[in-house]
Amino acid sequence: MGDIKAKILSVGTYVPEKVLTNAYFESILDTSDEWITTRTGIRERRVVDADNPVTAADMGCRAARVALERAGVAAKSVDGIIVATFTPDNFFPSTACRMQADLGCTGAFAFDISAACAGFVYALTVANNMIVSGQAKTILVVGSEVISKTLDWNDRGTCILFGDGAGVVVLQADGSGRRDKGILSCYLSSDGTMGDLLKLPSWGDERFLSMKGNEVFKHAVRMMSDASARAAGQAGFKIEDIDFLIPHQANIRIIQSIANTLSVPMEKVVTNLDRYGNTSSASIPLALEEAWGDGRVKDGSKVLFVGLGGGFTVGSVVCII
Ligand code: UT7
Repeated sequence: MGDIKAKILSVGTYVPEKVLTNAYFESILDTSDEWITTRTGIRERRVVDADNPVTAADMGCRAARVALERAGVAAKSVDGIIVATFTPDNFFPSTACRMQADLGCTGAFAFDISAACAGFVYALTVANNMIVSGQAKTILVVGSEVISKTLDWNDRGTCILFGDGAGVVVLQADGSGRRDKGILSCYLSSDGTMGDLLKLPSWGDERFLSMKGNEVFKHAVRMMSDASARAAGQAGFKIEDIDFLIPHQANIRIIQSIANTLSVPMEKVVTNLDRYGNTSSASIPLALEEAWGDGRVKDGSKVLFVGLGGGFTVGSVVCII
């Protein structure tokens, strides 16, 4: 049991077709393409179309089918589905249970977790621990969000930032004893005292995502830099040993500040928020898909995932692809 590691076999993603450019926000709000681009790095984002509504489970299933196909894994041999989302289809049944039914993963347990924008890293950590302990062999780790439904479209400080999408990795047990493959370290931390800085209430009339952006910004840089250094250290690496930093995609200035704090050159940092905005728990698998797809990330690459979200929640994972 002690020699089992969890390795990422594949990634799959899905984003809705509808694109909202910064020009759209110029037409509905007191904002500008120049402000949004320079303050956030975002140029456009994908959103679910009201005429073709898809849910977090629907998008998760589309991404999962791609990931399963790429991994050559049959739906029936999946042991578990863990979905990170703050925009679930229902309070219950969980988004994961809906995906289990739609995908035909008849042998899988399924549950959702709530860790906002750090959700993918939290789900990956839970899945890793279940695999390492021998409880499961193959787990779908999902981040899927329909954030457009939660936004106040009159609040220029939030509605310009977010997009919808889904990403899934197939995580599987590897008993070969190899040190050069799979997840090497996971670090999680939370600070509930800062809950009011970024929140989405479940009940009441004000059910919109709200954020004190510039305060979140400062904590995001500090906490994600710290989490990155910890996961690298626990894996036995110096930060310069890491080939690619794949951070949660909230704001290009946050990402640049983290890279600067850690002395990681931007060539080693994967970003795609210019095209997708902040997709919360989907942002890390969307970035992984891109860097793996274009050949930057390949067999043997040492990658560091790091995310931070409302809660606050922060987490990091070091993995060799
Ligand atoms: O995913 C979870 C984690 N989330 C994040 O990490 C997000 C963290 N925060 C941020 O990305 C940034 O704080 C924002 C992009 C949200 C805001 O950027 P900022 O540089 O921190 O701006 P600010 O909130 O300090 O606001 C500066 C000014 C304000 O105007 P005044 O009071 O100086 O006159 C805002 O009203 O910019 C104004 N402003 C805007 N102006 C044009 C805020 N949003 C906009 C906008 N267009 N969309």
